[in-house]
Amino acid sequence: MNLILLGPPGAGKGTQAQLLQHERGLVQLSTGDMLRAAVASGSELGKKAKGIMEKGELVPDGLMVGLIRDRIAQPDCAKGFILDGFPRTEAQARALDQMLAETGKKLDRVIEMEVDEKALTERIVGRYTCAVCGTGYHEKFKRPKVEGVCDVCGSKQFVRRKDDNAETMKTRMAAYRAQTEPLLPYYSGRGVLRKVDGMASMDEVHRQISGLLAGA
Ligand code: AP5
Repeated sequence: MNLILLGPPGAGKGTQAQLLQHERGLVQLSTGDMLRAAVASGSELGKKAKGIMEKGELVPDGLMVGLIRDRIAQPDCAKGFILDGFPRTEAQARALDQMLAETGKKLDRVIEMEVDEKALTERIVGRYTCAVCGTGYHEKFKRPKVEGVCDVCGSKQFVRRKDDNAETMKTRMAAYRAQTEPLLPYYSGRGVLRKVDGMASMDEVHRQISGLLAGA
């Protein structure tokens, strides 16, 4: 099964992709995580992406399409994947259609996570991640069971993203509205778009997504 999770910054795409990955053995393909790894490694891609990401703008389509094309071709994606953060423009969506057609794969569902825009900044500003295993947390909505210790790997090191601040959030939201929201009619027209209430609790959102996948 191949899915796209679509929604604005902080909608919960990464949170839900991690749950689906654990439960269903699908591979989470987060373009944001891939880019942050490229920035950390100092690769050519990372050098090009760093400043763009810090401003909250979108990395050029050509770079993103190349990244996903290579990743989808890896053997672990054969059993299915969850795209988290891609596509974000119509050009990326068209390139994805082409890649899937070339490799004999199909898109089973595009899940739109509907959220109240006012809640997004609170989610983004309170977010932090385990520096070792990448598990996501939130100061208010998802604290570790033991304060300061990652539930999954026991690490005591956590990181925050440079673009997780109220100012950059405005640019990220503007990019979402102008370039990514038009993908909703694009996928609705293909009959694969479904919606969940992204304002519900994390468990409830997961339950809604699982229900939509049952019939896919
Ligand atoms: P990316 O990393 O994809 O960021 P994003 O789309 O802004 O999404 P986020 O990761 O911020 O949010 P999310 O929806 O995953 O929410 P999460 O689950 O973490 O992209 C970063 C940058 O990279 C872009 O700005 C761009 O520059 C570049 N980029 C990436 N892909 C690109 C592409 N395809 N093309 C061009 N450029 C690209 O949840 C957020 C917080 O809320 C967490 O703390 C979580 O615990 C909490 N939370 C989650 N669900 C709930 C809930 N139901 N209730 C309460 N709290 C919740």
